[in-house]
Amino acid sequence: MCGIACYIGKKKALPVVISSLKSLEYRGYDSAGVAYVIEDKIKLIKTSGKIINLEKKLDLKKNTYLCIAHTRWATHGKANFKNAHPHTIGKITLVHNGIIENYKEIKNTLIKKGYTFLSDTDSEVAAAYIDYNYKQTNDILETLEKIKYELKGSFAFGIICSDEKDKIYALRKESPLIVGKSNDGFFIASDVPAILNYTNKYYLLDNYEIAVIEKDYVTFYNDHKVIEKNSNTFNGDNNNVNKNGYEHFMLKEINEEPEVISKTIKELKNIKSLDKYNKIDIIACGSAYHAGLVGKYLFEKYADIKVDVHIASEYRYSPIFKEKNNLAIFISQSGETADTLAALKLAKEKRIDTLSIVNVKESSIARESDEIIYTYAGIEIAVATTKAYLAQITTLSLLALKTSYEKNYISKKEYEEYLNDFNKISEEVKLLINSSYEEIAEIIYKKEDIFFIGRSIDYYLSMEGSLKLKEISYIHSEAYAAGELKHGTISLIKKNTPVISVITNKELKDKTISNNKEVISRGAFVIAITNSIIPDDSYNIKINIPDINDFVNPILTIIPMQMIGYIVAKKRNCDIDKPKNLAKSVTVE
Ligand code: AGP
Repeated sequence: MCGIACYIGKKKALPVVISSLKSLEYRGYDSAGVAYVIEDKIKLIKTSGKIINLEKKLDLKKNTYLCIAHTRWATHGKANFKNAHPHTIGKITLVHNGIIENYKEIKNTLIKKGYTFLSDTDSEVAAAYIDYNYKQTNDILETLEKIKYELKGSFAFGIICSDEKDKIYALRKESPLIVGKSNDGFFIASDVPAILNYTNKYYLLDNYEIAVIEKDYVTFYNDHKVIEKNSNTFNGDNNNVNKNGYEHFMLKEINEEPEVISKTIKELKNIKSLDKYNKIDIIACGSAYHAGLVGKYLFEKYADIKVDVHIASEYRYSPIFKEKNNLAIFISQSGETADTLAALKLAKEKRIDTLSIVNVKESSIARESDEIIYTYAGIEIAVATTKAYLAQITTLSLLALKTSYEKNYISKKEYEEYLNDFNKISEEVKLLINSSYEEIAEIIYKKEDIFFIGRSIDYYLSMEGSLKLKEISYIHSEAYAAGELKHGTISLIKKNTPVISVITNKELKDKTISNNKEVISRGAFVIAITNSIIPDDSYNIKINIPDINDFVNPILTIIPMQMIGYIVAKKRNCDIDKPKNLAKSVTVE
């Protein structure tokens, strides 16, 4: 996904939009650009690479008070200068987040009408299409009301029309867009972090709505009519969008985890039970998918409910079977992940009850769901999720615990004891965060291949550990069901291949110990993460974690793997908060 940041008001616009863009850089950082109005002209400045490259090209003191800006995560066309936004065609200059699915046929039509294109992007085609229609109507509002139903796919636009250089137009469909309101002017942005250094007041733009921002006011339209909208106030502080002394957002966010757990337990103490359901499908992507697997383990073991966990991009293209008393849970930190949102809509078409567990209020997935449980991780900036994943598994754990109790699988006393255990773990998490992982990181940071193994819940946790390591350190790693390794992949184990073995599942402990020995006998270097006593010949290094109970143990177990991933990536001088090729939320297919 990309980041859009536009401003019009009393302040000089360039410092404002650059500061806003930096708060959105987690959304994409392949290229960046600005278009601003100065001396009645529109000036365009773009760059490949990160926002810092753009900032070096700008004179922030320029007397401009209107600017649209963009940081890109490439979808169509390489991450280079010519594909950077903004794009100008004719009288239209715009920035775009989303995918125009019918851009090819529109481009071919416009080429026949004499339009030429410099970039490979769908966004430039959108600019040309708006320009073409504007030349027919000579009314930009009328034009936007027309093209919003003709462009297929998703879009969030910030638009300057050269006939009205005192306004910025905004239009969205599927891709998020907010309008910020401050004492010094108005903002259009992809997400709340972009405005928090200036205001916490914002409006949410709904699909097909148009906003027109001017120096002193904003007007909203839909289907040719002025509409009234209520403003929202972001209650968090902009602490979330500053590193507060930590070297990386990721480390800061890991260190926020104890507080996230406490807040989640407090806010969800009356979480509703899911005991009326006989079957649960959990649908998500990436780490959210891994969180879903932790939920599967707990719901099946303690609430006797069958759970299938699906990768959203697979679920949406597979047959969907509605079963009796079926619930579909959608997990998403951003609430904007395209595959998860699409899967949610399909489940609704099948009239399956839908519940979403999301971290961003009023996000698209939240608004589309029958029921919502918000997680309380706060804004997460680092692309590699840590505190939000932890909030997800804490939420799922509380859900499974409540459901187990309502189904009388655990007594009131046990329920209260389990709940009480949740209150203990913030301290344990702090200790695990502050343990030393230096020796382990030193052993693995130069390796090319690393394996994570486990069984059942340990396998699910090792998946998240593996993803954390590979997405920020760029070391190839994969998680494997410990019992499956010998069916082929063990051929890749050679002398000193690191194998991180997760052993917290008591019933399967001895099995995984045997798997450790199998890989050790083939030269592997085993790092065991365990809450049990295991034989000395079944590991080379051991990380001990507390054993409290099944509902909280996953929360403790993931911490060392998050820290190892972070320290290894740091030793490899990787861009930890903005890993190459990634974006914080993938709002495209
Ligand atoms: C995990 O560190 C990644 N950032 C990625 O796998 C992420 O979990 C996935 O893209 C899902 O995002 P969402 O939770 O916002 O839907």
